[in-house]
Amino acid sequence: MRAGLEGASDMEEVRSLIDILDLSVEEIDQLIATADAIMENPEDYQNACQNKILATLFFEPSTRTRLSFESAMLGLGGRVLGFSDSSSSSARKGESVADTIAVVSAYADIIAMRHPKEGAPLIAANHTRVPIINGGDGGHWHPTQTLTDLLTIRHEKGRLEGLTIGLCGDLKFGRTVHSLIEAMSRYDGVRFVLISPQELALPALEKARYIDGKGIPCRECRSLEEAIGELDILYMTRIQRERFASEEEYQRLKDSYILTPEKMELARGDMIVMHPLPRVNEIAPQVDEDPRACYFRQAYYGRYIRMALILKLLQESGKGKAQPDKGRPHFPENALPGGVCKNPHCITTTEQGLPQRFTPAGEGEGEYRCLYCEAEYTP
Ligand code: NCD
Repeated sequence: MRAGLEGASDMEEVRSLIDILDLSVEEIDQLIATADAIMENPEDYQNACQNKILATLFFEPSTRTRLSFESAMLGLGGRVLGFSDSSSSSARKGESVADTIAVVSAYADIIAMRHPKEGAPLIAANHTRVPIINGGDGGHWHPTQTLTDLLTIRHEKGRLEGLTIGLCGDLKFGRTVHSLIEAMSRYDGVRFVLISPQELALPALEKARYIDGKGIPCRECRSLEEAIGELDILYMTRIQRERFASEEEYQRLKDSYILTPEKMELARGDMIVMHPLPRVNEIAPQVDEDPRACYFRQAYYGRYIRMALILKLLQESGKGKAQPDKGRPHFPENALPGGVCKNPHCITTTEQGLPQRFTPAGEGEGEYRCLYCEAEYTP
């Protein structure tokens, strides 16, 4: 089989990936199947994106995610351009995300972006002529890491249902955690164990929406030793230094959890250890030799699921498939005139001319969330 992009030249309709929930469970299954097919026969896909250009716009430093996107596009026979740090882009001169995207979408067929401000890719998706892939926005979302995680789980555990997943570390600022919880909350029989210091607990709104609100069993605990024995998957994360308001607090919390061979002895023989990487100190290097450690295999899978994603978005853009209705591409009316988002990481703090927008949050009256960064807002 040869996978090509015939007929995908009319770019009136654009399919982007901003939040993992932009993809249905069936679409994720199809992406996993395509990634498997590419892994098996990469030569069948080596010209699938010939003459297509991927722009990687990394306003926040990254190596592995950017390289994995670039390697994915090169593996499909496409070409890549872009920047790897905002100081080498016009963002430094004060250009808005909206303007950068309007310009770059004239030069590329698909854009992968990472931005320190939460909600930036949503703005991009509203100003683009080509698909936008969110490669991470602040502490908010990281849907392509989640696709990587799902492919890894499917390979290592054989299924996505009926799993107990322990998420350990920085559950407050860890965007990979937020997107993974959203994604896993759609599979039957999932159970979460949230292991973090109180200060880095999962945001309440997120827990209410994706765990408690869906009746998913969940236990919060402070100790890794206490929880490790009941897990099918241990998802370790880095404490996100760059998102802390104070260096002192980071120093106090940075070594909250360190996975060691001794702690691995308390785990089941078939538990797997995942980590989006980079690790700092949270997994001792001696754990790498344990066959249950699969974080380097996880990085390998990332390239193939991104290949599958690039193919899908290019194939579907211009073929009349619109965005799932999440208020995009046209934003809904502001539900709270006069409100100003208080999240210092929100894109509204830097993007010129961007009006504040709130949507009602949950059932409670008088509760809102920012449309862009999703932070809770009580007037
Ligand atoms: C993660 C990220 O950028 O959020 N890394 C990645 O994408 N591979 C995790 C992290 O930086 O801690």
